[in-house]
Amino acid sequence: MKALGLRLSLVLLCGCCLACGDDTDWASMGPTGEQYSEAELNLGEAVYMDTCSACHGQHGSGNFGPDLVGKGHKYTYDEQRSLVTRGRRSMPGFGASLTEAEIDAVVAHIRVGFFDSPTN
Ligand code: HEC
Repeated sequence: MKALGLRLSLVLLCGCCLACGDDTDWASMGPTGEQYSEAELNLGEAVYMDTCSACHGQHGSGNFGPDLVGKGHKYTYDEQRSLVTRGRRSMPGFGASLTEAEIDAVVAHIRVGFFDSPTN
């Protein structure tokens, strides 16, 4: 009887994990803990508007490309930075067209800067 109860709760637990899948509300987790200067965040916003917003939406809520808001909690800084540099599937890489400083700044913008924007 006891064993059956345990098995049942394991089944319920697994079912819940599967169902939760990618429905996580990343945006509600807010900015990541990194600190960036005002100047870097401003540069990042400008680069984002010019280079990324057509595919990811002005405020990062997604369009042709996926929603980016709060995804700094899903991916590390290095994972996001290397994706922006190299690209992945239908996302182009920007290692050749942006400077290192611009890539740093745009990653800062998507991890922290989105949350400074009053329109978000
Ligand atoms: C031509 C459209 C396009 C542009 C421009 C673009 N992206 Fe993307 N981006 C995509 C697509 C499509 C994906 C999904 C890639 C995949 O399926 O693996 C993606 C994925 C991403 C991801 C991973 C998202 C996740 O949750 O897995 C990040 C981070 C990202 N883009 C950031 C940027 C940044 C920063 C810029 C500007 C420097 C940018 N993208 C410009 C289309 C674009």
